[in-house]
Amino acid sequence: MTDFPYSRGRRLRRSHNLREMAAENRVNVKDLIAPLFVTEGSGLKEEIPSMPGIFRYSEDLLLREAEEISKLNIPSVLLFAKVPDSKKDNAGTEALNPDGLMQRSVRLIKENFPELVIMTDVALDPYSSYGHDGIVRNGEIINDESAELLAKMAVSHAEAGADMVAPSDMMDGRIAIIREVLEEEGFYETGIMAYSAKYASCFYGPFRDALDSAPGFGDKKTYQMNPANGSEAVREALMDEKEGADILMVKPGLPYLDVVRAVKDAVNVPVAAYHVSGEYAMIMAAAEKGWIDESDAMMEVLLSFKRAGADLIATYFAKKAAQLL
Ligand code: PBG
Repeated sequence: MTDFPYSRGRRLRRSHNLREMAAENRVNVKDLIAPLFVTEGSGLKEEIPSMPGIFRYSEDLLLREAEEISKLNIPSVLLFAKVPDSKKDNAGTEALNPDGLMQRSVRLIKENFPELVIMTDVALDPYSSYGHDGIVRNGEIINDESAELLAKMAVSHAEAGADMVAPSDMMDGRIAIIREVLEEEGFYETGIMAYSAKYASCFYGPFRDALDSAPGFGDKKTYQMNPANGSEAVREALMDEKEGADILMVKPGLPYLDVVRAVKDAVNVPVAAYHVSGEYAMIMAAAEKGWIDESDAMMEVLLSFKRAGADLIATYFAKKAAQLL
């Protein structure tokens, strides 16, 4: 290594093209996963108040949105269903309904846009009268029974045509159980994107507004991870990789870039980061006040995920980013 003045960092920053040539990381539209909210009914495109620019779509309008996403060359969508209170219970009944909103939405998108990779959220909270990700008994979230139920839910999504299921629940051992049941049922090509390191985070607030899925009692700290922990995330990721997960996810994103890097360095499958609802809301709120530039903030954050080692990024900015890229 040479010293100043022979070595000058600014030489490679002189012009746009030089900076591009020296860029170590880039965001590609193919890195993006677009979350998509569906709701019962027709003619509905409901904006989520805490997520300006993000909507819940009824099935009839879902297709137009899927078309836009696919025209922008975004390779995949991550589907979340909003379930009316009348269909919620403590047994995930509606989650297994072969003709439920999620299953219908998957079929509809698959029929019309077969090339779009469909990932589905697998967790009980939108279907749970308690707003928890698993079955509740005596105030506790029952692990193994919940994992069995989630495996049935995964099969139901696979039957509908999902390319990948995305368990976001953090029950122990659920990747192994889901994989095993998918294999038994012949869905050996259906992938699993595991939320491996999902933290008990305050940044999910706007998402819970979107799905009306806030926990009815307590919090999710007995299953989601403690934000204080980093090594534990690597342990969780290694277990999920061994249990058969095809993609591992870290969530939230920006406050956990160190975790993205640690997981990326430890595993040999693609790693995704989830730029979650509260992170989106923060940028939108500051931009609305004129305190930061929305596009610049968006691109800087997305780039930071790549630098941290993320191969894929689930983000509510997917469409806006794709338009700029
Ligand atoms: C629930 C789930 C959550 C998110 C994705 N799946 C919220 C939670 O765990 O309470 C959050 C996504 C976001 O905030 O954008 N299984």
